[in-house]
Amino acid sequence: MSNRQRGESMSSRNIKPLIPNAWYIAAWSDELPEFEAGGKPLARTILNRPLVLFRGANGRAAALEDRCCHRGAPLSLGMIVDDGLQCGYHGMTFSGDGRCTVNPGEDPSDHWVQGFPVAEKQRAVWIWMGDPALADPADIVEFPWHDRTGEWCFRYSYMPIDCSFMLVMDNLMDLTHLGYVHGRTIGGTPQFHVAAEQETKRTENGARMVRWTMNSPPPPTFSKAMPFKGMIDRMADFEYVAPASVIQFTTAMDVGRGARENPDQPGALRIRILHHATPESETTCHYFFSVGNGYRLNDPDANRNLFDEIYPTFLEDKAIMEGQQRVILRDPERPLLIREHDTAVAYANRALAAFARRAGAQDRQPAMAATV
Ligand code: FES
Ligand SMILES: [Fe+2]
Repeated sequence: MSNRQRGESMSSRNIKPLIPNAWYIAAWSDELPEFEAGGKPLARTILNRPLVLFRGANGRAAALEDRCCHRGAPLSLGMIVDDGLQCGYHGMTFSGDGRCTVNPGEDPSDHWVQGFPVAEKQRAVWIWMGDPALADPADIVEFPWHDRTGEWCFRYSYMPIDCSFMLVMDNLMDLTHLGYVHGRTIGGTPQFHVAAEQETKRTENGARMVRWTMNSPPPPTFSKAMPFKGMIDRMADFEYVAPASVIQFTTAMDVGRGARENPDQPGALRIRILHHATPESETTCHYFFSVGNGYRLNDPDANRNLFDEIYPTFLEDKAIMEGQQRVILRDPERPLLIREHDTAVAYANRALAAFARRAGAQDRQPAMAATV
C-alpha cells in the first residue's frame, strides 16, 4: 500500500501530527479559473479531508467538503453554476459558504455542506481547516514578490509528494544534501560549498539560514541564466516559516559589485521561490512552489529556462524524501540523528513544535529537534 493510500491517522516520534489551526495553500489562484457557468471544480484532499475547490460567480474562491449532503455524491463530479456548485447527481447546489441555494423542486433552506475559510492572497488560495473562529488572514505568510509583476516574473507549479510535509521543510533547510542528491544538477563544486559562510538563526516563527559563497565560479545553472565576467559572489537565503513555508532568495553577481551591501540589486541574478507543503495526510503532501526570475523579465525564455533547470532537482528531492518516508514508516519510533550541520533543520522542527503547541495541536513529540 502506498503512503498516499494510507488513510489512517497516525502520530509518533517521527511522524508529525497535523495542525488544523493554520493557513495552508489549497491551490494556486490560477488553478481556479475565472467563473464560467459549466466549469469544473478542483478536488483536493487536505489534512485527510476530501475537499472541492471552485471560484463562484462573485469571483471568490471557495472550499467545501467533497460530499453532497443528499446522497453522498462527490461534489467534485458536479459543475460550477451561477448559484454555486451544483451536485452532478440530483442538482442540489451550494454556495461558497456551504449553504444550499437550490434544491430542485423543494425548499433549499436547512441543507448545507461544510465550508472552510478561504483567503486569496498574493496569487495563492489559502485554506484554514481548523476552528473557523480562529481564522485570521493576517496570519498568512507574506510573499509580496508574487504581486510585483513589474519587477518579478513567476511560474507557479505543484507536485504531489508521498512524504510528510515536514520532510519537505527539512530538505529545504538542509543544504548539505546538495552535493549528493543534486550532484548531477545544481550540486556545484564541493570545495566552494565547504568554504561557504553560513549563519543560522531562530526567528519569531521559524528559522533562517543565510549562506554566502564569495569569489567562486558560477554553477552551470547560473551561467545559463546570465553571462558573468568571471568569479561571482552568491548568497542563498532560506527562511522557514511555521508550519509549512520556506521563503527562498538566491542572488549572484560579479565579484566587486557590493553583493554584501546590497544583495537584491537590479542587474544581479535574482531568484525567489515560495515553497509550501500542504499536508494531504500525515505521510503525504502537496508541494506548491513558485519560481521567480528577477533578472530577465522581458525574455519569455528566461523563466522557462530557469524552471527547466530547477524542476529536475525537485524530482531528485522527491525520490529521496519518498524513500525516506517509506523507511521511517517501517518503524516510526526508531530515533533519527541530528548532526552539527543540521542546526537549521533542528531550529525548524523546534519552531514547528512551538507552533503546534500554540495552535492547540497534540504535538506529543517535538521529535528529533529535542536532541540538539
Ligand atoms: S447526491 Fe447530490 S443532489 Fe443527490
Ligand atoms: Fe534539494
